[in-house]
Amino acid sequence: MTSALPYANGDIHIGHLVEYVFTDIYVRFLKITGRDVIYVCASDAHGVPIEINASRKGLTPQQLVSEFHKRHYDDFSRFEVGFDEFYTTDSPENQKHCEIIYGRAKEQGHIAQRDIEQFFCDSCKRFLPDRYIKGICPKCGAPDQYGDVCESCGAIYRPTELSEARCSLCGASPALRTSKHLFFRLEDFSEFLKDWTSAPGRLQDEVRVFVNTWIDQGLKDWDISRDGPYFGFKIPGEQDKYFYVWLDAPVGYIAATEHYCMDKTDRSVGDYWLNHDSDVEIHHFIGKDIAYFHTLFWPAMLKSAGYRLPSAVHVHGFLTIESRKMSKSRGTFITARQFADNIHPWYLRYYYATKLNDSIDDVDLNIEEFVNRTNAELVNNITNLISRSIGFLNKRLDSRLGSLPEGSGEFQASALALMDEAFNDYSNLKISAATRKILAISDMANNHVQQAEPWSSVKTDPEKARNDLTLAINCIKLIIIGLKPILPSYCAK
Ligand code: 2FM
Ligand code: ZN
Repeated sequence: MTSALPYANGDIHIGHLVEYVFTDIYVRFLKITGRDVIYVCASDAHGVPIEINASRKGLTPQQLVSEFHKRHYDDFSRFEVGFDEFYTTDSPENQKHCEIIYGRAKEQGHIAQRDIEQFFCDSCKRFLPDRYIKGICPKCGAPDQYGDVCESCGAIYRPTELSEARCSLCGASPALRTSKHLFFRLEDFSEFLKDWTSAPGRLQDEVRVFVNTWIDQGLKDWDISRDGPYFGFKIPGEQDKYFYVWLDAPVGYIAATEHYCMDKTDRSVGDYWLNHDSDVEIHHFIGKDIAYFHTLFWPAMLKSAGYRLPSAVHVHGFLTIESRKMSKSRGTFITARQFADNIHPWYLRYYYATKLNDSIDDVDLNIEEFVNRTNAELVNNITNLISRSIGFLNKRLDSRLGSLPEGSGEFQASALALMDEAFNDYSNLKISAATRKILAISDMANNHVQQAEPWSSVKTDPEKARNDLTLAINCIKLIIIGLKPILPSYCAK
């Protein structure tokens, strides 16, 4: 099981957490049901922005990556995201697998070479990717726009169309330069991808529809090389060419697995990624913005190199806050640490759980709803049931359970049926539906306690009070089992 690899170039925010909490809940659910699962992730370490940020801070890229790696690990831990392995793409394992995959693609004729023209800054001595070029929008004339898209009118263009283009690092005007680039011929895999994406259970229906549109429109060659200086892996057999960060990033899933296998299991990376006869499944959780990479480039790369292919790619929507994009100016850009410093992470995990399902719709964080749900469901419904039933048994009835009340057979059957449904919901990634079932058990138990009034019956018939509480406490056991994937430390407590 994997979540997308976070860039080691900025803090984890609560938008990122939707995915990590989602994957983590599913992993914990599978582990509780006895499945043999590993959850691997890594820092996404390479690329131009990381290199440039590091040099601005007077650090090497490796130092910057290592700082963010630690910060991310701490943030994930506070939110109980329980990776079995959190590695880095800047690792020898990753380099090895990138070279194998590229080498095999090349052997089989899937790598093309072409010259392309790009802006080059003479004073910075580097080629400038889109985001490092600024100039005047060719459509609306807005100044200070990036090389790919105008933030003022939304036009999309090539960087060479900007007028008065400048290097965004030093302000110099860049010149066009030609350079040889290497391309992965994605088109060679059209037929394969058509089949692969249409296998049942591989993609959500709505995702399959747009992926198939991409395939039908014709797949373009993918530029997998970058000129130095570039923080990444050198391409074997080339001069001063590096793998584009998006080539080595997903290979990081394999590298993380290999690192995990070094000392945490008897299995080898090949058992997971190479052996085509094994019953291993590979599941990726990703946001909808990176579906192209995971449903087209990535399976094609694996296929060309003879690696195993993902069993499923699970795509989710973005986080919105009060139905709008997170925004620094609106004060809704909230990092994981800011959140955890102020509000218990349990509440966010629980709230997200009540929203998560197998669709690609955005997940909205509505503050009022967040407060109400936390109070009504987690505090007043579930926690209150636990504290008053068990508290009462401890205080008045020697902490001893009795037997389940006579005539409660139907009640028990309903509670167990709700558990079965919750189990199915989890299996189908309908986490939100699972929370409804667990809450319904809590409602039943609260109603039972309310009607049975053990605080009255304890005076005249203490065994009846004990049995009524025993029913409630058995419900608590179910609730705790059901909630454990969502709130592991709460349930332990
Ligand atoms: O979009 C991102 O944040 C990337 N760092 C995700 C990489 S996922 C995987 F392919 F490595
Ligand atoms: Zn420059």
